[in-house]
Amino acid sequence: MSLVVVASATGAPGVTTTTIGLGAVWRQRPVVLEVDPHGAVIPARYGMPIRPGLVSLTGAVRHGADGEADVLSHAQPLPGGLPVVVGAETPQQATSLLGSYGTRLGEWAAASPMTILADVGRISMTSPALGLIRRADIVTLLTSPELEDIRLGAWWVRQFRDRTNAGLLLVGDKPYGPSIIREDLGVDVLGVVADDAKGARALAGLGSEKTLRRAPLVRSLRTIADHLATTLPESDPAPSFRSEPDEELPEGRDSAGEPQLGENADEEESTTGVEAS
Ligand SMILES: Nc1ncnc2c1ncn2[C@@H]1O[C@H](COP(=O)(O)OP(=O)(O)O)[C@@H](O)[C@H]1O
Ligand SMILES: [Mg+2]
Repeated sequence: MSLVVVASATGAPGVTTTTIGLGAVWRQRPVVLEVDPHGAVIPARYGMPIRPGLVSLTGAVRHGADGEADVLSHAQPLPGGLPVVVGAETPQQATSLLGSYGTRLGEWAAASPMTILADVGRISMTSPALGLIRRADIVTLLTSPELEDIRLGAWWVRQFRDRTNAGLLLVGDKPYGPSIIREDLGVDVLGVVADDAKGARALAGLGSEKTLRRAPLVRSLRTIADHLATTLPESDPAPSFRSEPDEELPEGRDSAGEPQLGENADEEESTTGVEAS
């Protein structure tokens, strides 16, 4: 159906959090694919086993697998139910797998009956994930709203936009927001992800469900997910909205007594959502 890639241009953090958060609020249940060449972090983050995952999925794809049943048999559910194909255990294994089968995996993912959201980590000219990224229907480049990051993110957007829908996802919008970036750099900004450390921790299972529900990060991702879904080739013009989308979020582990590291709990109402592009 569709392959949506989340990458970072300059190592601005948040690719994994953004991918999982988008998956959690996507209207029709997608699958998250952890294909960061640096190796898996999701199993350790959520206390999941390393198998099944990318290694078994790649084996199946090599042997001609397709279809929803196939991808789901290599996925594991996050606490809220979102299926995730966890990455390879080591950088060596991840790099080797993607170098050999990345393009094939991308072709397979783009043709899958489910929407696949791929966390490819930090992009580079030598990233073994490039073959997969080139097969995507949407390529998002996560950047901070600082000029030095935006400039490099914009360069990457230009590399992909002839063949696919590519644009920046800003983490925060100060000092530079979507309008000025579109005007001055001529690249699309697909959304603004709230800079919300507390929400990010809650998405990683380290906050209460209440925090997660109210997180500016989650709200911003919902706006972005809906916008991205409308740009997909086979998007449903009248998506079937879930009655209780919040229940699909990864639930927090028991965080009673844990210190809350986020400092921006009061910023909820001031968070900027995505602008229409
Ligand atoms: N939107 C955000 N706002 C604030 N902090 C965030 C955000 N997204 C992620 N983080 C934090 O940044 C760190 C790295 O996040 P992660 O998603 O693992 O980044 P990456 O995959 O790019 O390495 C984590 O501590 C996470 O909580
Ligand atoms: Mg990551």
